[in-house]
Amino acid sequence: MIIVLLGPPGAGKGTQGERIAQRLGIPKIATGDVLREAIRNGTEQGLAAKKYMDAGELVPDSVILGIMKDALSTPAAAKGAILDGVVRTVPQAEGLAKLAAELGRKIDKVVLFDVPDDELIRRISGRTVCEKCQTPYTGREPGTSCAKCGGKLVRRPDDEPEAVKTRLNVYRAQTEPVIQWARDHDLDVVEIDATGDIDLITKRAMRALEP
Ligand code: AP5
Repeated sequence: MIIVLLGPPGAGKGTQGERIAQRLGIPKIATGDVLREAIRNGTEQGLAAKKYMDAGELVPDSVILGIMKDALSTPAAAKGAILDGVVRTVPQAEGLAKLAAELGRKIDKVVLFDVPDDELIRRISGRTVCEKCQTPYTGREPGTSCAKCGGKLVRRPDDEPEAVKTRLNVYRAQTEPVIQWARDHDLDVVEIDATGDIDLITKRAMRALEP
């Protein structure tokens, strides 16, 4: 089962992806998390990705598809995966569909998170994330500790206002066309209201995933 979570920055893909993955017993694969980990480890991939990420631009499709190939081929993902933040361009969607077919699978569902821009900006401007396990928080100061793993909470460089503006523009220009691509390819696209209570949104998402 391959489930794609699609939505603008701050829509709650990471928050809900974690919960959905737990409920379905399959891993969440988040390209943003993989890339931030690579930056922290100072790998070549991380260093190459950093300049795009800090500016709010997309990392090249070839890098993302390489990450997806590795992640989807692991035993942990044999039963399926929740893809958080993949895919973001039509070439990525085409690449993922091809990769899934090679693995004898398909994209089963695309869940589209609907949140108005003013709410996205409010969420992102108040966000800190754990530098170790990447759990996001709202209303917790940088430098305090993660409730999950004790790691230090930090601000993401791409959560600064200029980069957020770019990320929203990039979403409209490069990621929104994926929705039409998915519909044109007869994929099951379900839109959910991703505002309000976090538990309620999880319920909406789980309902959207029912066959
Ligand atoms: P990535 O890390 O994927 O960032 P994003 O898509 O911009 O999404 P965010 O992590 O900002 O938001 P989210 O939707 O996960 O929301 P969250 O749950 O955190 O990507 C970062 C960068 O990596 C990209 O810009 C690009 O450079 C690169 N990249 C990654 N994937 C790529 C790809 N496929 N192709 C090319 N480049 C790629 O929630 C946000 C905040 O709101 C949190 O503080 C949370 O606590 C809070 N919150 C969540 N739900 C609610 C709620 N219901 N009510 C109130 N607050 C809430």
